[in-house]
Amino acid sequence: MAKLAHAQWSSRMTFVLAAAGSAVGLGNIWRFSYMVGDNGGAAFVLIYLACVALVGLPVLVAEWMIGRRGQKNPINSMAELASKHGKSPAWALVGISGVLAAFLILSFYSVIGGWSLNYTLGTVIGTFNGQDADSISDLFGSMLASPGTLLLWHTAFMLLVIGIVARGVTKGLESAARSMMPALVVLMLVLVGYGVASGHFGEALAFMFRPDWSAVNGGVVLAAMGQAFFTLSLGMGIMMAYGSYLGEDVNLISTARTVIILDTGIALLAGLAIFPIVFANGLSAGEGPGLIFVTLPLAFGNMAGGTLLGLMFFLLLTFAALTSAISLLEPVVEMMEERTSLPRVSATLVSGVAVWMLGVAALLSFNVWADFQIIGLNIFDLLDTFTSKILLPLTGLGAIVFVAWCLKRESVETELGLSATGISLWNIVARIIAPIGVIIVFVAGLI
Ligand code: PHE
Ligand code: NA
Repeated sequence: MAKLAHAQWSSRMTFVLAAAGSAVGLGNIWRFSYMVGDNGGAAFVLIYLACVALVGLPVLVAEWMIGRRGQKNPINSMAELASKHGKSPAWALVGISGVLAAFLILSFYSVIGGWSLNYTLGTVIGTFNGQDADSISDLFGSMLASPGTLLLWHTAFMLLVIGIVARGVTKGLESAARSMMPALVVLMLVLVGYGVASGHFGEALAFMFRPDWSAVNGGVVLAAMGQAFFTLSLGMGIMMAYGSYLGEDVNLISTARTVIILDTGIALLAGLAIFPIVFANGLSAGEGPGLIFVTLPLAFGNMAGGTLLGLMFFLLLTFAALTSAISLLEPVVEMMEERTSLPRVSATLVSGVAVWMLGVAALLSFNVWADFQIIGLNIFDLLDTFTSKILLPLTGLGAIVFVAWCLKRESVETELGLSATGISLWNIVARIIAPIGVIIVFVAGLI
């Protein structure tokens, strides 16, 4: 086979921006805050932080390593590395399950991206100005109840994603990832400041960081681990695909640390922004997926300069969602291109439309199909649960076990560039702590 001329990221900075562009998204703000609220607060947060450090970091490094050594899409990288190291071709399943997960996640991710677009418009036209908590909740409820509204915004969001991905990875990703993150951080800080001024910041702090361990069960721990995978874009082959564009000179561990600190920092800021609003207005922390959409507009609708700040916030949230969504579509498209010899634009269209259709099923589960449930979950919840609690941990487990146990020792040492102590530490975490952790959480969470 002809060797693919494989482009590389122009610099480490560009790579960090692209990886952070995938990682930072709705998962940090929308999903993190509602999971914290649903799972009782601090204990969930602390378990999540432990999962990020002990599982997220090694899996992130493992995925980049597989991509950089394999130089192909996730499935082919896994297959090629497995055959090179005399392992079973079945390891390619790790790549396949990752691409499947990306496909499934994007379908419901786009629905929420649509909400964010809709709320961008809502702030501009002043929908939330001067409204109280009840009417903000009603507005959110009526959006959910309207299949037409949800469809319109889901479609708009998917069209943006398809348009960008069709332009190709370097043009599409590098330019999109560049400028928005600092602005998002600043806006989150403004919101945290608003929370401090509300007088309920202490309550929010306690809710997020003073754990009540008695409420913890296997389900909470599995949810925290699922959130760690989701927020870092792990277990989907995405980071593997990115790794295949990564130059040999880039240090994987320090780069992973940078991306993780950024992602985790933004999630914690989101919590510190949202929960003061919850407590100040007597709202319920366990509101579910609507949490940021019933809290933040309330703040923007009632603060000085709220229209402008709200517009900026939802615009940036939408941009963050877009860069993540692009990274979700990318591996699906890449696989199609290689498997079917479709040109990029057609491959993007075909995958994009398939994702869009599944997204329509997801959005109907908020209204006309609300009663259609499988094992007690509607389609939206089923997609979210199956991916974050099953597919992502299993795929991530496969990636870390493969790197830690199947790659030759020298390969790993060259890739990581660590001292002898560093390598021993890596081996303990990557061979034992991370895989066993995932297995225990997985089993405990499912029973
Ligand atoms: N990690 C991103 C987030 O936290 C989104 C994402 C999820 C990207 C899953 C890829 C895969 O929002
Ligand atoms: Na994230």
